[in-house]
Amino acid sequence: MEKDRLTNLLQAYRNASQEFHATSYWAAYEEQIMETIKSIDLNQLRSGKYPYLATFGFNDVIYFYHPNLPFPRKVILKLFHKYVLKNRRILPYGINVSDIRDLSYQHCNLLGKLSNAEPISSIEVSTFGNPKDLFEVNGKKYTMPFLNYYARYCFANKHVAFKDKEIVVELGSGSGYQIEVLKKLHPHITVLCFDLPAQIYLCESYLSQALGKENIVGTEETLMWKNLSNLQKGRVHCFGNWQIPLIKELKFDVFWNAASFGEMEPNIVANYLSYIEGNVQWIYLLQARHGKEISGKAHVAKQTTFDNYVSMLPDFNLWEEHDAWQAYKKLSEAGGYFEAIWKNKFDVKIGREDKNSYKRSDR
Ligand SMILES: C[S@@+](CC[C@H](N)C(=O)[O-])C[C@H]1O[C@@H](n2cnc3c(N)ncnc32)[C@H](O)[C@@H]1O
Repeated sequence: MEKDRLTNLLQAYRNASQEFHATSYWAAYEEQIMETIKSIDLNQLRSGKYPYLATFGFNDVIYFYHPNLPFPRKVILKLFHKYVLKNRRILPYGINVSDIRDLSYQHCNLLGKLSNAEPISSIEVSTFGNPKDLFEVNGKKYTMPFLNYYARYCFANKHVAFKDKEIVVELGSGSGYQIEVLKKLHPHITVLCFDLPAQIYLCESYLSQALGKENIVGTEETLMWKNLSNLQKGRVHCFGNWQIPLIKELKFDVFWNAASFGEMEPNIVANYLSYIEGNVQWIYLLQARHGKEISGKAHVAKQTTFDNYVSMLPDFNLWEEHDAWQAYKKLSEAGGYFEAIWKNKFDVKIGREDKNSYKRSDR
């Protein structure tokens, strides 16, 4: 049954038109990700047992030493950490791992206050999939990624001011961790998430556990949809990325794309944006400022840069933009990331337009 879900997704993906197929950056990982899923134990999804899944967010491991060292050096370092260093203060200013966790939590706490957000202390992370780097603050469970996604929510909330009734569309949801944070803070928002087949398959598996199956409308149901007439208010809907044309008929509050457009070429990004322009009030982007690498195992054929987004969004005002931060450090990979939010120049009436539609009356 579970395997059928993936098989059906793969079949629909293969039949989809070319602009929805993974481009060079993600095609480079497709084979390893599929191999991983074939024999996956979902109870170990976040344990570090499946390193390829970290490429799209299932990255709950804490590295005390460089993971790619050759075999003998890796083992020696591991033993050195375990028996000699233990949890000693080896970093500048005498900080250790628990200090980094405390600082990150405090950072989130302050971000929440500054952005009028629901507090980080009101939620905790799911332990499904055995996250390796799990810690507690004031009796609640957290992982570093959970704090990172909370920080992103704070930035968006500063402008969107979520009222728990919004419709959010996320393209390239990866693990679904962002949705976990959003839904735990605002349980009544409606979410539509879109991704490549293996990614949306695992995202759905994870969110079914983290948020409860009753809150998810899975791809077994949505795969056949020809329109959004069966959209369910307050739930998370999972879709294949090639189904994005469905949202042409939907007016919604927020479009969310993080560390995903940057891994595509500008013409592919422009195609996705063509389905949302005119339909959305806010656009949240967190991307590599100068585009991703153009050589190496995973690379783009042509970079999508900050300036490309600006010129692709003529009907939107850039509301705020800054260098992107995780809970614990600046996102400095690939020459740095920006985090930005755009607002539609025109007012968007949220909901579906037709008679039998899901329409938000309380706006
Ligand atoms: C680095 S991951 C980021 C995941 C998540 N947004 C996050 O911030 O953790 C990039 C995501 O973009 C998705 N993606 C890559 N190429 C895509 C394409 N051509 N169409 C749709 N999604 C794509 C990947 O499947 C993956 O989920």
